[in-house]
Amino acid sequence: MHLSRNFALIPAAGIGARLGTDCPKQYLPLAGKAMLRHVLDTFVACEAIAHVFVVVSAEDGYIADLMTAAPHLKDRVTLLYQGGETRHLSVLNGLNAIRNQAADDDWVLVHDAARPGLTGSLIAQLIAALRDEAVGGLLALRVVDTLKRSDEGVPLHGEGSQKMAPTSHVTETVSRARLWAAQTPQMFRYGLLQRALAIAAGQAQQITDEASAIEMLGLRPMLVEGSPRNFKVTLPHDVALAEIFLKEQV
Ligand code: C5P
Repeated sequence: MHLSRNFALIPAAGIGARLGTDCPKQYLPLAGKAMLRHVLDTFVACEAIAHVFVVVSAEDGYIADLMTAAPHLKDRVTLLYQGGETRHLSVLNGLNAIRNQAADDDWVLVHDAARPGLTGSLIAQLIAALRDEAVGGLLALRVVDTLKRSDEGVPLHGEGSQKMAPTSHVTETVSRARLWAAQTPQMFRYGLLQRALAIAAGQAQQITDEASAIEMLGLRPMLVEGSPRNFKVTLPHDVALAEIFLKEQV
């Protein structure tokens, strides 16, 4: 009988424009190591992870140095120079590239390179929670803030008007009941995830994570409590916060 293995797939082919740094976001040094290196060190230290695949852009000029500086990663990490135009396509390209290595019922944990705060115990909790799940699931946090929808992008004087609201004002308070903020890893069976992302490729705008492609098939991924330290480094002020988490190991 084939025992399902757990593979990690890290999309790391973005440029991270919102951070405004010289190098792509995933290579930014944080607490002494590149952001991506934190993620790789965490996954390779996990016994439950059979192998780690990283999707980088074909022109990536940083990953070779990162790997040279970290020889312990060599046997546990494979680089796939197949980044796509969007995160969705980078993940799909990565899945297609490992078709001969992964069985349909193997699990794939897709994790953003931009979430360096992930820990081995969060990975273990996700894997344990999904052991008996048919579909798969993701780390996520319950929404605690009161949510407002704004008038951005809404024509000022009704349909047909060319004028958009110049500042943001509240049009609606959205109930936070039953709302969660999605994190990664998002963990699904190889075959199901590859099929879901391939089918969703025509609707790329709506697909900002793996779970949404699975949901489009009418399936319900399981929500597993994540951690605030696993947040996505996106804006300049996130860098200092990430360093606090990474230095303190809180
Ligand atoms: O830009 P954002 O923070 O949403 O990216 C999330 C993750 O997806 C990052 O690890 C980034 O490198 C990756 N990505 C990718 N290919 C793209 C865009 C983003 O692998 N075309």
